[in-house]
Amino acid sequence: MIILGVETSCDETSVALVKDERQILSNIVFSQIEEHTKYGGIVPEIASRRHLEHISQVTSLALKESGATPDQVDAVAVTNTPGLVGALLVGTNFAKSLSYAISKPLISVHHLKGHIASLYLTYPELYPPFIALVVSGAHTHLIHVKDYTDFIVLGRSVDDAAGEAFDKVARALGLGYPGGPAISEISKEGNELRYSLPTPHTENPFDVSFSGLKTAVINILNQKRMQEEELSRADMAASFQKVATDMLTAHLIDAALEHKLDVALCGGVAANSMLRMKISDSAKEHNIKAYFASPVLCGDNAAMIAAAGFYEYTNGNFSGIDLNAYATMSL
Ligand code: KG4
Ligand code: ZN
Repeated sequence: MIILGVETSCDETSVALVKDERQILSNIVFSQIEEHTKYGGIVPEIASRRHLEHISQVTSLALKESGATPDQVDAVAVTNTPGLVGALLVGTNFAKSLSYAISKPLISVHHLKGHIASLYLTYPELYPPFIALVVSGAHTHLIHVKDYTDFIVLGRSVDDAAGEAFDKVARALGLGYPGGPAISEISKEGNELRYSLPTPHTENPFDVSFSGLKTAVINILNQKRMQEEELSRADMAASFQKVATDMLTAHLIDAALEHKLDVALCGGVAANSMLRMKISDSAKEHNIKAYFASPVLCGDNAAMIAAAGFYEYTNGNFSGIDLNAYATMSL
């Protein structure tokens, strides 16, 4: 079975073909990051317009690279939620038209289920149950993956998402957008113990909070500015990254120990090498297996959407031609 996936929830226009659940035939990702960098963040209208301009060409490339013809595609899977609604509408409408044109079923895929499916593409031997931490620019979700289409959200960020916090701290430090890779890079030269930052606490032990941590960074920056004292950007980035990654690691491992399950990490922030290392070390210490989405599948891509679409297909979850796009939707 071949599923064609479409992903346009943020600033990547992506189309992929995935065969028999876990074999990627093609995965074309057109990133708009350079254009949004000029504005220090994503401009939703620009994102929608670029999706509209590129989606047909990206689809042609994905088909060409896969070696499959449109009539060999068994279903079209598309991210229709959550994300930037104008961006989602482009992919959703395109996928609807494609499914109608080739007379193949349409499958809607929740973006977070897509990120979780990136783990199945990375590890052919991985199957549920496990505890997944999905960390992206918009989400920080701790999820009990009971089965391929059965999820329980154990906790989430009560304010900023992990990636959002990296992006905002990077912006405050003048490191540009996207902030995650910039913080990770500059932190290599920094002293992570130089600045003392708080670890925010939440009522639900499986929730996390980043807003207080981000504000603490900004307050120190303002204080140093007013007192005309120097601030080391590398030390501050490293100090922030230390607290953020310690917090996420503890969060994931605690949930795994409570549920007696292995752990998995996915989403854009899962590319962070410090976070991967800490989770790997802590999991080893507790005799837990840890799975990490392949770095090329951490960011948004359509292969993960096609893979998630496979499980929806086998579960009989199809969508009608009246499918709409939604900025938010629970799992
Ligand atoms: O999953 P993703 O590509 O898009 C969303 O669904 O949001 O995640 C993008 C986020 C951005 O906030 C970016 O700064 C962050 O992932 N990110 C990182 C790293 N690479 C990307 N955060 C920390 N360390 C990284 N190496
Ligand atoms: Zn994402």
